Amino acid sequence: MSAALAMRGGPRVRERPWPQRGQFGPEEKAAVDALFDESISTGAPFGYDGPAETAFCREFAEMMGGGFADAVSSGSAALYAALKALGVEPFSEVIVGCMTDPGGMMPIPLLNCVPVVADIAPGSLSPGPEQVSELVTPLTSAIVVAHIAGYPADVEGIVEVGRRHGVPVIEDCAQAHGAEIGGRYAGTFGDVAAVSTMFGKHMNTGGQGGVVFTRSEELYRRSRRASDRGKPFFLPDGSTNDAASLNLNMSDLAAAIGRAQIGKLPDLVERRREVVSRLEAGVADQGLESVSIMQPPPGARPSYWWLPVEVHAERLTCGRDEFVEALAAEGVPASDLGWGLMPHRMTWFTQRRVFGSSGYPWASPDYTGDAGREYPCPNAAAVMDGFMKLPVHEGWGDGEVADTLAALAKVEGAFRRR
Ligand SMILES: Cc1ncc(COP(=O)(O)O)c(C=O)c1O
Repeated sequence: MSAALAMRGGPRVRERPWPQRGQFGPEEKAAVDALFDESISTGAPFGYDGPAETAFCREFAEMMGGGFADAVSSGSAALYAALKALGVEPFSEVIVGCMTDPGGMMPIPLLNCVPVVADIAPGSLSPGPEQVSELVTPLTSAIVVAHIAGYPADVEGIVEVGRRHGVPVIEDCAQAHGAEIGGRYAGTFGDVAAVSTMFGKHMNTGGQGGVVFTRSEELYRRSRRASDRGKPFFLPDGSTNDAASLNLNMSDLAAAIGRAQIGKLPDLVERRREVVSRLEAGVADQGLESVSIMQPPPGARPSYWWLPVEVHAERLTCGRDEFVEALAAEGVPASDLGWGLMPHRMTWFTQRRVFGSSGYPWASPDYTGDAGREYPCPNAAAVMDGFMKLPVHEGWGDGEVADTLAALAKVEGAFRRR
């Protein structure tokens, strides 16, 4: 007889706490110490746009296989600067996937553009070419596609749609550092990429940070101006601040940490892949039927910011929520996908809270699209209701994989439909 579920008073599969990621080590400390040592010896503060930031941007671009990087203060700031660099006009429409962080959508209306929300493609977490192409109109000025959870979107197909209509594509790589499609990093397919380097991401710049990456020198130049109050970088002598914007600079301190993190990224991503392949093998070996790990599109290699796992409630006597609750009670950090992933269902969007009570950009007489359009996004709704999230990371070892599999087997055993 198998043990009772922990949620019903039985013993927990896992008593020990789950390991932390351990992102920082002597490399980051040495980089930060060096900045302080120099500042203390010279008396000059470190700032921004200094040697550390310049080197970080160069090394980031090298990592991406060449191009230009503008280091900024967050992923949201990167998207804002990227949109501004593209020159999107107010009251145009920007197509954006429904499943994203609020920071992956809010910069659109903050530039007075209307976000037009695309459902995800079945079997994925991002829109595909089909979902995007049915939303393109003469008002479309850009497409933003996020590679959610480190699972690459079909960005090549989306770029093809964009090209057909003369619309640029921004890749939101906030969750997809090191994710690959056909051997190329996500972020190298679109016109420009927006990256977040906040502390929860694969690589981070200490707290907050972001990067605008592009292979276009012209877009890079515009991004630099957009991320620093329109300063006349790369403009003829005598030019003055070119356009209103915010100060979205990264600091040299953050960039110094980021340089050390770039070096760690490939190994970190490989370790995540190894954890996931062992989980997959374990699910298959044990013949578990209650869960399936989301599969990437052919030719894509996710970098697994988290692991989307489908719960087959039709094979169980419980629903997804009870299944997740049971796993959590066993000591495995499973959860539902959370409230933060569907920005267009949030108050700021539904109540149009962007510019005071004006309702802009939707309410503007200059907007000629459908201001009241609703976005049910049935494919995303099915994933939100039917999947759970496992927070896999590079710190998972044999014990975490074994405990996760043991807990899955135990919970499935208790709830399997017979
Ligand atoms: C897909 C996506 N886009 C944008 C952002 C915003 O990045 P940041 O939190 O650095 O502003 C995030 C943050 O998690 C994200 O996941």
